[in-house]
Amino acid sequence: MTPVAWQQAWQEALYGPGGFYRSAVGPSGHFSTATHGGPGEVLGAALARLARENDLDHVVDVGAGRGELLGHVYAAQPTLRRTGVDVVARPASLDPSAEWLVSPGGGPDLPDRLRDLDGALVIAHEWLDVVPCPVAEVDDRGVLRHVLVDPVTGAESLGEPLDGDDLAWVTAHWPTDRAGQRVEVGLPRDRAWAELVSRVARGVLVAVDYGHRGGDRPARGTLTAYRHGHQVAPVPDGTCDLTAHVAMDSLDHDELVDQRTALRGLGVDGRTPPIELAGSDPHAYLTALASGSAAAALVAPGGFGDFLWAVKRVG
Ligand SMILES: C[S@@+](CC[C@H](N)C(=O)[O-])C[C@H]1O[C@@H](n2cnc3c(N)ncnc32)[C@H](O)[C@@H]1O
Repeated sequence: MTPVAWQQAWQEALYGPGGFYRSAVGPSGHFSTATHGGPGEVLGAALARLARENDLDHVVDVGAGRGELLGHVYAAQPTLRRTGVDVVARPASLDPSAEWLVSPGGGPDLPDRLRDLDGALVIAHEWLDVVPCPVAEVDDRGVLRHVLVDPVTGAESLGEPLDGDDLAWVTAHWPTDRAGQRVEVGLPRDRAWAELVSRVARGVLVAVDYGHRGGDRPARGTLTAYRHGHQVAPVPDGTCDLTAHVAMDSLDHDELVDQRTALRGLGVDGRTPPIELAGSDPHAYLTALASGSAAAALVAPGGFGDFLWAVKRVG
């Protein structure tokens, strides 16, 4: 097939008709995230606390999967209004008290009805890493060129030199001229995030993702794929997730912290309960042990604890 720019192939593979994220099974059928299971319970409770501390009564989850995180928020604080946003129709498993909006296109596109949010905590958990972006590579002459991909085989080739706003973004945030080095141009993520920020009249937005900051960019890029729990070669054929780490520091933000720090501020430390509790109240001990180990997973170095939170306050 004719090779196309990665951004275009990626958008079609995830969100086109028959795209990966339109399949019935949902993201949790292919990989687990911190919104699932025990860690999801702890994260949901921490977010409910964040909403409370900021006097917000509405939690909006953008890229909500099948509503897993909203379910945990509900369990922690049933009085919070909740809205899930994703590219699929309302999941049958969603509690009837939650609202659901369908994004028309996926990637950077948001539903028209998502606007004028007042008093909202807006979470984008692992959304921006699946917003497709240009992939570029420095050629033998030191010129940064678009990487093209064959949508059937995944074979790559180099296309036109990067220019315009894409090149300006790279110059500002990820300068490189070493042959073979790759860049994932964060501009579409910055714009998608800015669009989401513009939908909020008063509230706090939190983008949670695996990412990097200036001085810590990956030399060979991070574009990869997952299918049924396994990391596989990135082929944009609609059968696998395609994801690349997010340049978190280029997002419009007031605060940028790792998840360990953010969650400690919300009372999640991952410590195990005192052993004496096992003797005095074995049931309480086991419950505390389970939530302590879920919390430990959320703050673990080399794992979810290294995720970054970009926080933006509006109004
Ligand atoms: C990596 S999954 C993360 C799901 C969930 N937030 C979690 O952490 O488990 C990314 C999700 O973002 C959704 N998504 C992508 N673009 C979107 C958009 N423009 N609006 C709403 N959802 C979107 C995908 O359909 C998918 O469910």
